[in-house]
Amino acid sequence: MELRGSKTIVTGASKGIGRRIAELLLEKGAVVLGVARSTEKLRELEEKYENFHGLPCDLSDLQCCHTIIDTALREMGGLDILVNNAGFAVYGMVWEQSWKDIESQVMVNMVSAMCLARKALDYMLEKNNGTIVFILTGAVFASILGLSAYGASKSGLSYFAETLRHELDGTRIRILNVYLGEVTGTEFFKNPGFKRMGNRRCKYFCTTVETVAKRIVEALEKDSEGRLYIPRILWLAAKIAPILDIAVGL
Ligand SMILES: NC(=O)c1ccc[n+]([C@@H]2O[C@H](COP(=O)([O-])OP(=O)(O)OC[C@H]3O[C@@H](n4cnc5c(N)ncnc54)[C@H](OP(=O)(O)O)[C@@H]3O)[C@@H](O)[C@H]2O)c1
Repeated sequence: MELRGSKTIVTGASKGIGRRIAELLLEKGAVVLGVARSTEKLRELEEKYENFHGLPCDLSDLQCCHTIIDTALREMGGLDILVNNAGFAVYGMVWEQSWKDIESQVMVNMVSAMCLARKALDYMLEKNNGTIVFILTGAVFASILGLSAYGASKSGLSYFAETLRHELDGTRIRILNVYLGEVTGTEFFKNPGFKRMGNRRCKYFCTTVETVAKRIVEALEKDSEGRLYIPRILWLAAKIAPILDIAVGL
């Protein structure tokens, strides 16, 4: 796909992986509607890139999903790529998580991405064209102690995304499901719940934000679809871990 001029939504564009994907897309000439809660960080990107529009929105509120797609169609005049990236984890054993922690992880990580995809499909199916990226995690292949609600939300999203991919067989709409190891250089582990670990070092299938963003943008350029494992070795873990019934600690 020619990224120059492509109309793209990136959720979680204020920092980490989403920000880097948005920047790389912008550098390739794409028009990007970036969504996040941090208004200031979105404004920074607007000042730096002419083709970037920031939309402050809290994805735990489903109304946001309608606003995002309506704004994209109105402001950009179409939609070629939706990158469902926004997400977060609250660390803690099940009994240490509040109802609110559980609800917000499920809403932001899973339900909002499903609703955005659902609404984007109205447009994409009519055009019979488009790409939807789902940012997932290797945590869906093994139990990670302290990440039950996060893993559940991403596992649910993985099921949705994989099934959608098959439902769209025979159309020109591509689904790219990205399974990530641990990514350094993002604010993911800055969530207050992770504080008790102090200065934790990357342990499992480490990769960098730069590598992740580059591989995703390359995959978009090549019209890749299906599963993308970053790092590639995660593919093997995905096959073996479910058989072993393992649980690992962070
Ligand atoms: N880092 C890792 O090791 C790792 C591993 C596997 C998968 N992932 C996945 O990669 C994705 C990006 O994470 P990251 O590592 O880049 O973390 P990050 O640096 O913390 O960035 C998370 C992004 O999500 C946005 N976000 C969070 N809650 C939101 C809400 N309620 N409404 C709107 N936006 C919200 C944040 O924006 P605001 O705070 O401005 O709202 C931010 O832009 C997530 O889906 C995560 O699950 C990360």
